[in-house]
Amino acid sequence: MLTIAISKGRLIEESLNLLHNLGVEFKEDLISSRRLIHYSTDKSLRVLIIRAKDVPTFVENGGADLGIVGKDILVEEPADVYEMLDLGFGYCRIVVAESEDREGKCYQKGYLRIATKYPNITEKFFSQKAVQFEIIKLYGSVELAPHAGIADLIVDLVSTGNTLRANKLKEVETILESTARLIVNRISFKSNNKEVVQFITRLKEGLDRKNS
Ligand code: PRP
Repeated sequence: MLTIAISKGRLIEESLNLLHNLGVEFKEDLISSRRLIHYSTDKSLRVLIIRAKDVPTFVENGGADLGIVGKDILVEEPADVYEMLDLGFGYCRIVVAESEDREGKCYQKGYLRIATKYPNITEKFFSQKAVQFEIIKLYGSVELAPHAGIADLIVDLVSTGNTLRANKLKEVETILESTARLIVNRISFKSNNKEVVQFITRLKEGLDRKNS
């Protein structure tokens, strides 16, 4: 039996659709369930429901053979895993945004305070610019930071753009584009090679069917 770690939140629905298209079924609805471990009815797959940022940690440490996680998370905190497949869904971007009323003048300031849940991506991106900056690390509601006066800019994930618009922020530039990736534990790839490769092949075929 293979174990796959799936991100809670924005990727869960499409991740489960993907498994469903491979014929993997579960007794209960994984999205509404409070249970964090689920077994497919044919007992071929165990699914762990995990916070997105923890998926690479579970896979790297062998808690799961495979994982589905956003590229944004893999770039922010690189993990020692194989990144095997771009699954194509969960498209989003990591962007720099500022308050609508700043009219693109943010980079003219000599010193920038940047609020974000992505300190590593932000550090790397702004280090390449001729600006001085400070990173304000937040865990959520990043869009509030400019209005509360604790930051000049934010770096955050944008999917529909609704959160930026609702909070009167606008994009300044895109740092990276992200989609869901399939990652694999390095040891598992060797020791369970046949099962892992078979599963990846089925996933690829499922994706090809979906895209054709
Ligand atoms: C992300 C991000 C934005 C929002 C953007 O947070 O930090 O707040 O989604 O999505 P939109 O462009 O579709 O409006 P998320 O919902 O992942 O919550 P989190 O704070 O728990 O990471």
